[in-house]
Amino acid sequence: MEKIILKDIPGLQNIDVYISNNGYSSLKKVLTQMKPEDVIEEVKKSGLRGRGGACFSTGLKWSFMPKGNEKPKFLCCNGDESEPGSFKDREIFEKNPHQFIEGSLIAAYSMGIKAVYVYIRGEYWKWINIMEECVADAYKKGFIGKNILGSEFSVDMYVHKGAGAYICGEESSLMNSLEGKRGYPRVKPPFPAAVGVWGNPTTINNIETLANVPEIINKGAEWFSKIGEPKHPGTLLFGVSGHINKPGVYELPTGTPLMTIINDYCGGIRNGKDFKMIIPGGSSMPPLTKEESLTMKMDAESLKAVGSAIGTAGVIVMDEDTDIVHVLQRITKFYYHESCGQCTPCREGCGWMLKVLNRILDGSGRKSDLDLLISVAENIEGNTICALGDAAAWPVKWTVRKFRKDFEDKIKDDSLELNVVNKVHGLRNSNEYVKVSNDENSTVENLIGKVQEIINNDDIKRFSS
Ligand SMILES: Cc1cc2nc3c(=O)[nH]c(=O)nc-3n(C[C@H](O)[C@H](O)[C@H](O)COP(=O)(O)O)c2cc1C
Ligand code: SF4
Repeated sequence: MEKIILKDIPGLQNIDVYISNNGYSSLKKVLTQMKPEDVIEEVKKSGLRGRGGACFSTGLKWSFMPKGNEKPKFLCCNGDESEPGSFKDREIFEKNPHQFIEGSLIAAYSMGIKAVYVYIRGEYWKWINIMEECVADAYKKGFIGKNILGSEFSVDMYVHKGAGAYICGEESSLMNSLEGKRGYPRVKPPFPAAVGVWGNPTTINNIETLANVPEIINKGAEWFSKIGEPKHPGTLLFGVSGHINKPGVYELPTGTPLMTIINDYCGGIRNGKDFKMIIPGGSSMPPLTKEESLTMKMDAESLKAVGSAIGTAGVIVMDEDTDIVHVLQRITKFYYHESCGQCTPCREGCGWMLKVLNRILDGSGRKSDLDLLISVAENIEGNTICALGDAAAWPVKWTVRKFRKDFEDKIKDDSLELNVVNKVHGLRNSNEYVKVSNDENSTVENLIGKVQEIINNDDIKRFSS
């Protein structure tokens, strides 16, 4: 299958090799032959949807940018890539960085952008260094800067070292971080196209999204729209990790069966084992059971049909020996740690879910904990400023629902503590207790005696020891 981004061309990361393989010809084409609005129309027609997680139509997003030049406009390229299980944007920085740069320049032209920021997570030094060099090379060749390739169009590009936090990948938090502020997500509306970086119109796109654009311009929207699934066309960079023989990033058309990815490309499950659970799009996406995985096609619509989502196409495979409760506890710990703390449901709820999972793991879980976990998750979901709340809630809600037996197996019995607490709460409704407590001749000793009768004495002794 022909690859759009991770092409098998040795040395493609070098600007001269890129140019000799038709590189920057799409930029030339848009500057000489296309009006900005034609570029947006072409990207819209291609059906390209964002690869950063939300799967939103890229052309439509670009069309939201206001026309005219009253205010400077900005493009932020999101290379924060901190979702556990996601590692495909760094592959683009390493293997085909100029195609991403070219795509972001075409995007900038189509929206009348003044400056492009390439936001890369602070700890990713290797990729920051690569991209600083690539941007400098593109400036030297005249692809970035003033009057690009002799046209009227000028744009600058900066590589920005991010703050080293998962939350800074959320688009509004990214903009705050870029402005030098704390990486707190902003309340929307207003949306970035209206009020973005320094209060100016801004578009935020994922690295992979932008890397698709030069080939859409080069080969046409129709060509792109025919690759993979019609409602979610193109290829995806599947970052596959976990209990498989050959982890890595595989570029394949949308709609590729999950089992083809795992068996034909990743060499199957490690040590000849069976598998138990697969997370299809980064750790925040609802997991798939084995039964769902066997027939699953990897595109937005197919995953939506079983209550999951494609996310960043970061596939995490877990074999039959995996302790699912431990996995969920580890995932929840991550989101608890990464919550920025602005909204109560996310800040407190992540901590509560972690507490409950910890007690199930250490053997003091209660049967009611499973419904409690789902209830906390459902009270976070949709009730927060940004989607990190959902990202924390979905794995809990769906893992408990789909793998309930694994959780129940860790809960021996309703705990003693709960038995006693429930019985104490039940006293007020106990006819025997009410009778004694309403009897004016009752002494305190009578009351205590009755309580001890109702609450099993053994329980009390064990509880207080
Ligand atoms: C907590 C959180 C973290 C995110 N991290 C990233 C990220 O690292 N990279 C990314 O492209 N999008 C990330 N997103 C999604 C962005 O907010 C945004 O939707 C995306 O960058 C838009 O680009 P696209 O339309 O090209 O997909 C994150 C969202 C949330 C809620
Ligand atoms: S949902 Fe969580 S991460 Fe997002 S703004 Fe609220 S507290 Fe912060």
